[in-house]
Amino acid sequence: MLTFYRSLTHPKQLTVYCLLLTACYLPLAAFCQEVKESKGVYQFLTEDPTQKPFFSDRQGVVGKNGMVASAHPEASRVGVEILQKGGNATDAAVAVQFALAVVHPSAGNIGGGGFLVYRTKKGKNYTLDFREKAPLQGHKDMYLDADGNVIQGLSMTGHLASGVPGSVDGMVKIHQKFCKLPWTELLQPAIDLAEKGVVLTAREAAGLNRIKNDLKKLNPNTTYFLRQDGRDWHLGDTLIQADLGKTLRRIQAQGRAGFYEGETATLLVKEMQRGKGIISAQDLQQYQSAWRKAIVGQYKGYKLITMPPVSSGGVALMQLMKLVEPYPLKRWGWHADSTLQVMIEAERRVYADRAKFLGDPDFVKVPIKQLTSTDYLRQRWQDFSFDKATDSKAVKGGDIAGYESTETTHFSIVDKDGNAVAITTTLNGGYGSRIVVEGAGFFMNNEMDDFSIKPGVPNMFGLIGNKANAIAPSKRMLSSMTPTIIEKDKKLYMVVGTPGGSTIITSVFQTILNVLEHGMTMQQSVNALKFHHQWLPDKTLFENGAFTENTIKRLQARGYILEMQRNTIGRMDCILVRPDGSLEGGSDPRGDDTSVGY
Ligand code: GLY
Repeated sequence: MLTFYRSLTHPKQLTVYCLLLTACYLPLAAFCQEVKESKGVYQFLTEDPTQKPFFSDRQGVVGKNGMVASAHPEASRVGVEILQKGGNATDAAVAVQFALAVVHPSAGNIGGGGFLVYRTKKGKNYTLDFREKAPLQGHKDMYLDADGNVIQGLSMTGHLASGVPGSVDGMVKIHQKFCKLPWTELLQPAIDLAEKGVVLTAREAAGLNRIKNDLKKLNPNTTYFLRQDGRDWHLGDTLIQADLGKTLRRIQAQGRAGFYEGETATLLVKEMQRGKGIISAQDLQQYQSAWRKAIVGQYKGYKLITMPPVSSGGVALMQLMKLVEPYPLKRWGWHADSTLQVMIEAERRVYADRAKFLGDPDFVKVPIKQLTSTDYLRQRWQDFSFDKATDSKAVKGGDIAGYESTETTHFSIVDKDGNAVAITTTLNGGYGSRIVVEGAGFFMNNEMDDFSIKPGVPNMFGLIGNKANAIAPSKRMLSSMTPTIIEKDKKLYMVVGTPGGSTIITSVFQTILNVLEHGMTMQQSVNALKFHHQWLPDKTLFENGAFTENTIKRLQARGYILEMQRNTIGRMDCILVRPDGSLEGGSDPRGDDTSVGY
């Protein structure tokens, strides 16, 4: 050994060792698909040189003083303007939420709900649950016929599909507790966009054209979201929403009462009565969002702050992170066979737990502590083998003593002081129930489909549930939304989230690991191709190109059912604090998503 060390000082022998090491290392690196950094540009060495691990080559946006990453360029612009006026991250968040309700009507909303995760510059964390609730007249069999069979579509489209909206109450509560700027100022940009009009992107135009027939069928006589000349919308057309502007003005003038009482409430209840909906004036008056204790946990040296139930997102994310923590993902490499197996098998087990245990904590006891404990998670690996895929039929929710379309939306904001906001908000499916409140001009959610409408019957995302997530009056439906903030060395490090129904949790999981384990920048991690497994149905969906041909063959040989997705997975809007303290916004090239910094 001593000779070996001495020989290292001899130039000739040193060269031989270097050549030997290089010869051994290169194939290993190629096999492991490790990430290399050369002059600041990350490159993936894969066993298949034609593999492109990214959806696009989009570069991240860098800002020194603040960053807003959202689903729409106008909403991000609004957020940054509020920051530049001296507003903090929560001021910008309120303005962005209302702006998205105008410019991104498929998911931005006042007729839906969502979740806030907030970390102050001093490191205190808060979460607000402004998820919709079942109406007082709701009951567990409300979507079943006399024989107990599900009436197809009733929980997804039309008046009965809506829960009592929570977004406006949520914004009021955030404003009361944290904001610096006057409420009226935060509403004004959205009012301007509604009244002066918003120029449609190609995607927004296509989305509205897609639902044209539903709009006409479900809202006879409506003119909302339809072109006056009856033709299709095109990129560059201007969409004016005068009645929505009036509704926003009532909210601006009266706060909570501008939505849950008075004219807006009267219009909403009248709309419900038109279509045999059951949301009443009492439902609206009673609605209150709730401050909840964040799920906080460690992954290696990082602290994760994420959303507790009634979102399943935070519990599931913590379980996933803890399940993969013991494995050398970095050494194995991004989307190497073993990395994929461990991640897929973790997802299989976690979604089985989700179906069994998760529901509204105001109604059912959710065993959060046990589900995220090391002992419990260790047990969950007992039936795992690298030789063969576990059969989902054999995986049940664990033993403890004692879910779209991509039409949710997420935004991340960091201000100059380091206050950070992660909000995910939704109507559920694209344009929710497709009912527009006559006279008020906004879409209602179809969030009732996120309940388990009958035990074992999958919802629109194929997610299965049971009693814990059965409908009851004023109960909140289970969600997958996973707004998350990460600390490194007690300092703000990352803000993450996405839409995507049941794929939200797994997209957030991958986006975090891409940065923490595989050294990607924020934007690369967002661009990186994604996959998803949710226990049932027992298959792994993947974006075209996410796995090499050889990996596909090898995983199939071990019993994995793999299905390439025609659609993309995830619409991430995330922010990373770089080593020099600047902020990198990573917004998803799969949508109109845009980061704006300053
Ligand atoms: N509506 C999608 C979710 O809350 O997970």
